[in-house]
Amino acid sequence: MAQGVRGTRDFYPEEMRLRNWLFQKFHSSSLSHGFEEYDSPIIEHEELYTRKQGEEITQQLYNFEDKGGRKISLRPEMTPSLARMVMARSGALPLPIKWYSIPQCWRYERTQRGRGREHYQWNVDIWGMEGIEADAELLSVMVHMFTSVGLTHDDVVVRISSRKVLEEVLGSLGIEGDSFTKACVIVDKMDKLPEETVSAQLSDLGISDSSITTIQSVLSVTELPGLRDMLSPDSMAVSELERLFQLLESYGISEWTTFDASVVRGLAYYTGPVFEAHDRGGELRAICGGGRYDRLIGTLGGRDLPATGFGFGDMVIMELLSEKGLLPDISSRVSDVVFSMDESLRGAAMEVSSKLRGAGRRVDLVLEPKKMKWVFKHAERTGAERLVMVMPAEWDSGKVRIKDLQTGEENDIEFKDL
Ligand code: HAM
Repeated sequence: MAQGVRGTRDFYPEEMRLRNWLFQKFHSSSLSHGFEEYDSPIIEHEELYTRKQGEEITQQLYNFEDKGGRKISLRPEMTPSLARMVMARSGALPLPIKWYSIPQCWRYERTQRGRGREHYQWNVDIWGMEGIEADAELLSVMVHMFTSVGLTHDDVVVRISSRKVLEEVLGSLGIEGDSFTKACVIVDKMDKLPEETVSAQLSDLGISDSSITTIQSVLSVTELPGLRDMLSPDSMAVSELERLFQLLESYGISEWTTFDASVVRGLAYYTGPVFEAHDRGGELRAICGGGRYDRLIGTLGGRDLPATGFGFGDMVIMELLSEKGLLPDISSRVSDVVFSMDESLRGAAMEVSSKLRGAGRRVDLVLEPKKMKWVFKHAERTGAERLVMVMPAEWDSGKVRIKDLQTGEENDIEFKDL
């Protein structure tokens, strides 16, 4: 029974310190770009996720029936909950909406390096803006985060494309609407599944062999001019992407980004630009990913509102930071260890602790009779800055002894001046 459920994690204090450090970076990057935090319940009605376009995520639900017979699921991602929240206040929220959140998400996945059955996913989304400026701003938040943890564009690359590229290709082949969405979900698996499997699935959608070849050659393009040659001189998809890359240049983050037509993403709801960040070494799974989804609310029965955003998990980034030696060495947050030399002074030690805590210090009071040697070791282990000793003669004259653990210097300080 000492083991938790497969694919889930415990966070012991040393891991929790790192998690809090990472989350702090998520918070500060969001706030630096004017985003506000929101949250929602971890459970939702299952039907919020039962889209029928063959996405993996819909087959990985942690779902159950509650005691009232309702079909419920743990959230596998945050976007549908966010859409539900926006829909519920439709018209009442001032636009654009710029919100972020760090929810725990649950997917019954095959566990592997960087993928678990639960993960925390920083979500950053903008609603109510049709313009590509919103997408550029999101990429700026993402790069801000990478920079804030010490990563550079030598470590990470953000690959960008647009669903509109495939839409133009498939549209010209007569594949539209639901078939188009299904085709995107299949095409996304091209680098994960054998070519025959993907081709067979596309054939099932009624896509001919020659069209499959066309799709494959378009997806291998990594230069925008080359793409224009393949699509059409007045391709909207290409114009929009060109504009996006201009904006990224203005933000000063071009070196982090590249065009790559093979980025399609496996979720059905994307409608425009899509992007994914990877380690340059190409060893790890995607660090984060997102894109524009202007028609999600419509599929949930509401009135559409343009939206774009990304999800950024806590697992791959930690792997990468650890590999690059960028994880900080964070000790516990205790500032003072307080102890009494003598049992008769225990009350005094409590008084001293209360005073220090009232002044905002983070105090660990030694609650049992302990030897001096143990106390020193304990102070070292907790990374405390000071040892506050309550000693008989000193206390009688209204003082406590404070040892600075960095310098080793000792001083007697008046209790009232603590
Ligand atoms: P997603 O690509 O499914 O997109 O997930 C986004 C990120 O969440 C991934 O790149 C990865 O960092 C992390 N992630 C996903 N599944 C796992 C897992 N099993 N274990 C560890 N990390 C994982 C979405 O979820 C979209 N809802 C993102 C979005 C927000 N699009 C627009 N707004």
